Amino acid sequence: MKLKQFFLALNTIAIVISAIIVVPLFMGYQTTPIAPEASPASDKYRLVWNDDPTENITVAWNQYKKANSMVMYGTKDHGRDFFKYEFSKKADRILTKYKMTTHFAKLSKLKPDQVYYFVIKDDTGVSERYWFRTAPDKPKAFTFIAGGDTKSADAALEAGRASNRIVAKLRPLFVMFNGDFCSGNGTVPEYWHTWLNDWHKLTTTPDGRMIPIFPVHGNHENGDQANLNYIFNAPYQQNDSSQIYYSLSFGGSFFHIIALNSSIDEGGNQRRWLENDLKTHKNYSFKIAGYHKPFWPHTNSKAENKYQYNQWAHLFYDYGLDISMDGDSHLSKITFPLRPESTAKNSFMGFVRDDAHGTIFMGEGSWGAHPRATNDDKPWTLKSFSGNQIKWIHVVPKENRLPDRMNIYTIITATYDKNNKQTLYDKNITGLSEYNLFDIPDNLKLLENGKYGEVIKYPFRLN
Ligand SMILES: [Fe+2]
Repeated sequence: MKLKQFFLALNTIAIVISAIIVVPLFMGYQTTPIAPEASPASDKYRLVWNDDPTENITVAWNQYKKANSMVMYGTKDHGRDFFKYEFSKKADRILTKYKMTTHFAKLSKLKPDQVYYFVIKDDTGVSERYWFRTAPDKPKAFTFIAGGDTKSADAALEAGRASNRIVAKLRPLFVMFNGDFCSGNGTVPEYWHTWLNDWHKLTTTPDGRMIPIFPVHGNHENGDQANLNYIFNAPYQQNDSSQIYYSLSFGGSFFHIIALNSSIDEGGNQRRWLENDLKTHKNYSFKIAGYHKPFWPHTNSKAENKYQYNQWAHLFYDYGLDISMDGDSHLSKITFPLRPESTAKNSFMGFVRDDAHGTIFMGEGSWGAHPRATNDDKPWTLKSFSGNQIKWIHVVPKENRLPDRMNIYTIITATYDKNNKQTLYDKNITGLSEYNLFDIPDNLKLLENGKYGEVIKYPFRLN
């Protein structure tokens, strides 16, 4: 009798356990269902160009709680209905560094010049709906923003935030960020957290467009030469993540951008790589190089970089580099087109003006960092200015009788009076829409370049 009761009880327990295990499987409860309003356990979203941008983009984020995260994306806007998106991609690379668990998901085989919508989804929730545009594979007009040097505290942090907000107002195709992201040596986690949160929140447009970054290494990343690889999955050479320099092209043979590295040997391998890269892309309509340290800074408190000039200046000219974009000094400069030449009578610091074939050098990095005095102009300086600024460049392919051309604007983002009181200039700017990306919005504060006015045209003969 006792034995029978025992087996009956055992049978009942087995039925209950089976019901607990099997029934939910039939009902499809494989993961916890997500409430539509729930947020994912991730933040610090950014988009990076680190491979052919006509068909690739890297979505990067910090996953602060392990939750099976992925990007859901496609060419149709499904809002936050993640299950409706055509494609999904999990991270290709996960890296724990600087108190972040950074996820990199590379979206590939995208269509050129195409809008993609996406959300980042995990077991706890779904992000806002964002979108981006891939680069065109044929010549097509676009704008980009170039600049660098941000700081992690005080008025300099606020100036950087104003510049970030202007990115969202202008909706460029991409941003070339020319190094020096944080105060310190690039190994302070909290500074990266601030920078990445700001970048996500301030450069994203109100309708969710995210602007891809093309990152360049600066000396404030020198605490670890692989920093931009940790933060942006930036490419490197010689299978060595301390050798971060690379290039990308788009628009067919229209546009080529190069990220050089002035914190490692500019000669040797890097020089050989640069010569080969410039040679390979010699027939491109426009070739632009970004790097951090200028050859000859426009402030006397910064050292000259003669070795760098010796390694790169002749290659730039020989292979027809159109624009050189540097940073570091915390001021604005733009030169006339320059050719390296040391023996001519009118040569100054190894350069002469050459409007027909020279490279325009611009920079020098005051996205946020407090501006230095411009007390070291050269005979070939077109304009220098002490204030916070970013460069806005309109790139337009040839049409009718006009050649391939660029319009270069310097946007003043903050200035300081003699008591060091800061004025920011982002607030009253009318944001552009997708339909007027080449307009100059109301209340945008542009630098006047003497007799050339607010725009420097390239080729220079168009001025
Ligand atoms: Fe610097």
